[in-house]
Amino acid sequence: MSEWGNLIPRSYKTEMPMAVRGEGIYIYDESGRAYIDGCSGALLSSVGHGNKEIVAAMTRQLETLEFAHPSRWMNAAALDAAKEAASIAPADLRSVWFVSGGSEAIESAVKMVRQYFVERDGLSSSKSVCIARWASYHGSTLGAMGLGGNMARRRMFSPLFLEGPKIEPHYCYRCPFGLEHPSCDLRCAHALEQTIRRIGPQYVAAFLAEPVVGSTVGALNPPEGYWPLVREICSRYDVLLVADEIMTGVGRTGKPFCVDHWKVVPDIICSAKALSGGYAPVGAMFVRDDIVEVLRSGSGSFMHGHTYNANPVTGAAVAATLRYMKAAKVFENAAVMGERLEKALAPLADLSLVGEVRGMGLMRGIELVENKATKKPFAPEKKAAAVVTGECMKRGLVVYPGSGQIDGVAGDQFMVAPPLIVTQTEVDEIVGRLEEGLRAAENRLRS
Ligand SMILES: Cc1ncc(COP(=O)(O)O)c(C=O)c1O
Repeated sequence: MSEWGNLIPRSYKTEMPMAVRGEGIYIYDESGRAYIDGCSGALLSSVGHGNKEIVAAMTRQLETLEFAHPSRWMNAAALDAAKEAASIAPADLRSVWFVSGGSEAIESAVKMVRQYFVERDGLSSSKSVCIARWASYHGSTLGAMGLGGNMARRRMFSPLFLEGPKIEPHYCYRCPFGLEHPSCDLRCAHALEQTIRRIGPQYVAAFLAEPVVGSTVGALNPPEGYWPLVREICSRYDVLLVADEIMTGVGRTGKPFCVDHWKVVPDIICSAKALSGGYAPVGAMFVRDDIVEVLRSGSGSFMHGHTYNANPVTGAAVAATLRYMKAAKVFENAAVMGERLEKALAPLADLSLVGEVRGMGLMRGIELVENKATKKPFAPEKKAAAVVTGECMKRGLVVYPGSGQIDGVAGDQFMVAPPLIVTQTEVDEIVGRLEEGLRAAENRLRS
């Protein structure tokens, strides 16, 4: 039996402090030491820890009604949450389906896409293929992993997947086509059209992508024009555009959803994480009204369901989180603090191990390299991302590491993504600790 008793931990090999209490942007360990939650857990604790209004709303709901099965009962908390959620969605994505996590939201979207085409065109509809991208992550259930292109996480399980076609990502720092923006003319986006035509548009149902690639590549923002072009291509071929905003959504990049920056309206948005501020397990799918209308006036039901669909306690958490975000102008703060973080991080690009600083709003990433000039990554055995994370942890700062983004093995990066309620002083404190951590890691990795 390990030190974790009966619990199977994420890793038996990594030492982890015991999280005891949270307040604002801080998490406290058993000894009372405070750590800045510089990555909001996994980009979800957007309103910080210990928000009393959200806790009170959830407690009220728990005391009134903790559960009523969604196939037999409607509940007011879920209706309220859907109304609040729809109020931040773009255009006519006003129909919301709640689940318990991001992977479930992705699975729901894939099934919604298929059911839409079947209801619209008949059971013999050939539209079922969902195109996604390499160097992406859409969740850890089998369906979501088959769509995702996180090579490191897929490797062991790939025989289990129903594999979908994948196009290259917009990884401009290491362009898969060896081109440069803007002279590349967005070859990576045009690859979508090429793939749709090769497969045959009559078979292609959807294109799924993260607006800013999160954990797999470390806050990889798209080149100018990418999302508008992808939207145009999808519309031209009757292919539904599904934006995975599980990390980027609910204010993370300074707008309600990241696609809002480009005025792009997807057909479906998958959300999770920050939608309940981390106070309840949640996932959600926002669907265009006319897509839902095809189901409503057709079979009359979405052939999908989980026990915790539209759960009342989650509903209370979502509604309270979104109300708090509006009242405290959290999205606006994220936009302003995002700019400050960008400026504060920029000088770190001069460090010898920093290849690129990237991202949007309060979702920033740093790619680590052994050689800046050649962009040669550190040898995987050096575990550069883990070394940086460890040095930051020593300085009371939690960041989000990732590796293997180049080919599944090579490449190190990490994300800095503090809660959206972060203040100017806290941003400066984060970057100060980060710089110290990076310098210490640089010494260790070069010795
Ligand atoms: C972009 C993206 N999609 C999907 C998921 C899966 O969400 P969950 O872990 O809640 O199932 C994640 C989780 O990190 C994510 O970052």
